[in-house]
Amino acid sequence: MCGIVGYIGTESVKDILLKGLQKLEYRGYDSAGLAIVDEQREDVQLVKEKGRIATLRKEVEKTNPEGTCGIGHTRWATHGVPSARNAHPHQSASRRFTLVHNGVIENYESLKEEYLYDVDLRSDTDTEVIIQIIERFVFDGLAVNDAFRNTLSLLKGSYALALLDEEADDRIYVGKNKSPLLVGTADDANVVASDSMAMLHITKTFVELMDEEIVTVTRQGIRIQDLDGNDVQRGAFTAELDESDTEKGTYAHYMLKEIDEQPLVIRNILKKYQDETNEIKLSDDIRSTFYGSDRVYIIAAGTSYHAGLVGKEMMEKVIGKPVEVHIASEFLYNQPLLSRNPLFIFISQSGETADCRGVLVNVKEAGHPSLTITNVPGSTLSREADYTLHTYAGPEIAVASTKAYTAQIAVLAILAMDGAHAAGVDTDFDALHELSIAANAMETLCDSKDDMEQIARDYLFDTRNAFFIGRSFDYHVVKEGALKLKEISYIQAEGFAGGELKHGTIALIEDGTPVFALSTQENVDLNIRGNLQEVVARGANACVVSMEGCHRAEDQVVIPRVHPYLTALVAVVPLQLISYYAALHRGCDVDKPRNLAKSVTVE
Ligand code: F6R
Repeated sequence: MCGIVGYIGTESVKDILLKGLQKLEYRGYDSAGLAIVDEQREDVQLVKEKGRIATLRKEVEKTNPEGTCGIGHTRWATHGVPSARNAHPHQSASRRFTLVHNGVIENYESLKEEYLYDVDLRSDTDTEVIIQIIERFVFDGLAVNDAFRNTLSLLKGSYALALLDEEADDRIYVGKNKSPLLVGTADDANVVASDSMAMLHITKTFVELMDEEIVTVTRQGIRIQDLDGNDVQRGAFTAELDESDTEKGTYAHYMLKEIDEQPLVIRNILKKYQDETNEIKLSDDIRSTFYGSDRVYIIAAGTSYHAGLVGKEMMEKVIGKPVEVHIASEFLYNQPLLSRNPLFIFISQSGETADCRGVLVNVKEAGHPSLTITNVPGSTLSREADYTLHTYAGPEIAVASTKAYTAQIAVLAILAMDGAHAAGVDTDFDALHELSIAANAMETLCDSKDDMEQIARDYLFDTRNAFFIGRSFDYHVVKEGALKLKEISYIQAEGFAGGELKHGTIALIEDGTPVFALSTQENVDLNIRGNLQEVVARGANACVVSMEGCHRAEDQVVIPRVHPYLTALVAVVPLQLISYYAALHRGCDVDKPRNLAKSVTVE
């Protein structure tokens, strides 16, 4: 949530910052801004606007700020409505200091009362408090570095910060706690970024920052210190991404590209998790921790939570180990009774979701083992958990998650099968073989875009709402189908257990209400079809997605036959495509739906 960039080097900085911000726009797109140090006039030029990076770019072109050092920000509003006034960068009262911030300062009101009772703040943000306190400390006589450090030690909450001082235009001060931040190093320049993909046009060499560290970034190098002023040494890593990995190529939208990539992602996962004898290769530590636990607690949010629901079914069926799946934000403040030897599995595409991180902190304090399944191996949840399994989906840029979801399910399938081997459970589920069959089936569905577009037109063109029903594994998939549709098309959509609709929600069915029914599980095929008849009898416009073997001639979509534990991987593809085309035809911004951001780093 929110993206920040910074550059100090020898080249003109404005296009470098704008390019970086464009790459980070998935993190928030309510407003954006940048600040550039004008070395000639020795001042800081500030441009900020409500809206997207494209709007900021137009404004930058008009004012043409020049310089070789600057910072930028793209915002997802938490405190204060999206507006130019609340957009970052923020400046101190004298305008000497300029700051961008990603995160939430929980104690900003008490800090305001204690330190800034006589200052008229110019915005409604929590961020402005930080910069005004830094200035106050400097005016009271502290060196800037000390004022920065002292201010950070007062903050409660999360922050990734970059600060410019008009009077020291050869440096950017950087600080981090709980929000992601990297510094990057190149020959004639050094950079700051929320995500390495923002600065791949400058460097692939980055240094990770830990919580409560500050960095002074100059043209010559970087100096990392802790909040007590002790120097910290840390090696760099090379980002495994290429700039082209983050481009959408000939696709109109990242979402469509990412849907299409899914079969490839599954095949890639198979390669990564197989050894030369075609056996699953997970580390012995993961295997023994998994084996040694008496109950698995999956913690996740949104789409990743939906993947967890599928994972639970698989694990319980394949290994016979009890698994609970919890919404992270609920678990955080309402923890259920735990078993004696729990294992916590965090599922998170970004690896940054604050709700999950809150739980992980508690889990670690309690001494329970933890495993993160994520698409971003260097992310906070990955670093802080005992173990990580990478989903190898490549950067997911569309805000609506697609390939990360199917990748998570594939990794959970591999983990389930590995657990079964470790436990000596005799299972006929050969995850590796079945996943490769599922990848082929996904490809067939990806090739049926015209049909899915027609379904979107026929069922969703001008509807207010839509329902999705399914049983067993399909119940979890319809929840994901409904989430996809509502988040990008703004059609109110809900996923229900097929048998549950008649207990109340059926009251909403009217003539023409679209109801999508999933039937891929033979043991409940007759039941779900019965539930469908109940809504059709009340006027519903029914669309059935079934699987070969339990399909009927009149079904609208029939997916190729795959193992019943893996139907989610294939059945979700038509639902993703139907949502995509519904959003497209309703004129919605598919990749950047309103009110959302990709990486939810606030609770
Ligand atoms: C929906 C979506 C969100 C995320 C959720 C968790 O398409 O992407 O529901 O799944 O915000 O994010 P991660 O997986 O990054 O923890």
